[in-house]
Amino acid sequence: MSSLDTIVRLPGLTLKNPVLTASGTFGYGLEFARYGNLADLGGIVVKGLSLKPRQGNPMPRIAETPCGMLNAIGIQNIGVEAFLRDKLPFLPWRETAVIANLYACDAHEFGELAAVLASVEGMAALEVNVSCPNVKEGGVAFGQNPGQIRAVTEEVKRNAGSKPVIVKLSPNVTDIADAARAAVDGGADMLSCINTLMGMAVDIRTRKPRLANVYGGLSGPAIKPVALRCVHQVCRAVSVPVIGVGGIASAEDILDFILVGAHAVQVGTANFMRPDAAFRMASELPALMEKLGIGGLDDFRGSLRA
Ligand SMILES: Cc1cc2nc3c(=O)[nH]c(=O)nc-3n(C[C@H](O)[C@H](O)[C@H](O)COP(=O)(O)O)c2cc1C
Repeated sequence: MSSLDTIVRLPGLTLKNPVLTASGTFGYGLEFARYGNLADLGGIVVKGLSLKPRQGNPMPRIAETPCGMLNAIGIQNIGVEAFLRDKLPFLPWRETAVIANLYACDAHEFGELAAVLASVEGMAALEVNVSCPNVKEGGVAFGQNPGQIRAVTEEVKRNAGSKPVIVKLSPNVTDIADAARAAVDGGADMLSCINTLMGMAVDIRTRKPRLANVYGGLSGPAIKPVALRCVHQVCRAVSVPVIGVGGIASAEDILDFILVGAHAVQVGTANFMRPDAAFRMASELPALMEKLGIGGLDDFRGSLRA
């Protein structure tokens, strides 16, 4: 089957296949170059970047669960300037889409970060992580308040130049369709869906939480049904392309998300289980499509009979 069959056309962005890596689970990309050819991926979403470097949360900040993991890394990162200087030039950005994931704690700071990235040649798109608690609003994450999602999106869009803006939605809300509509009203070109689900783990021997932060984000196979439901609801609520994220660990999983309407997917925790996971999924997808008689992703997308 020709590689043309897996091409994904998005606003301002064409992917050679629908397999992206999820932010925070694939480092800055370079760390995984020994497990496969980075250029074979549809794209790489790099670790969340903030204007200034961040240390992240205290240890322990990872806990294993039966079907995934809990993390409270707290967006440890080297800062946008160091990323642009020390990492991006060494990524194959001419051959695959390198996407920044933006993290900030107020709308103005989001705008500043977008402005820094707006004119960078090797940056294919900006993904906005709205999970930071907004201290001014009493600690509720931006991503839980449609008004703030819209305001942050508008600010990023205003400063992003011609770069496509993806808003990454949180599942920790009552109605994810409301959040999706708010992002689209704010000018989002695309949405990614979902970030981690809030969870916790405890130790009955020490009587302590397993994470120093007490709460963390649950990811991995356990959240796939939640992610699939969210993508289905969001695809029905808005008309911009949606990128599915959550528990994707095989080529079959990719097609599940495309069947409910996603244009592309991101592979997250599976990278920790097998560092070559995303490469394998991208290479296995065409054969699986052939086996199932799927001629192209555009025809298959959203064809769920429900
Ligand atoms: C260790 C770790 C770090 C993460 N860091 C980020 C981040 O910096 N920005 C972000 O938007 N999402 C981050 N995420 C969320 C993932 O990108 C993804 O949305 C989530 O893990 C669900 O996908 P999965 O089940 O395939 O892992 C992180 C997830 C993990 C496990």
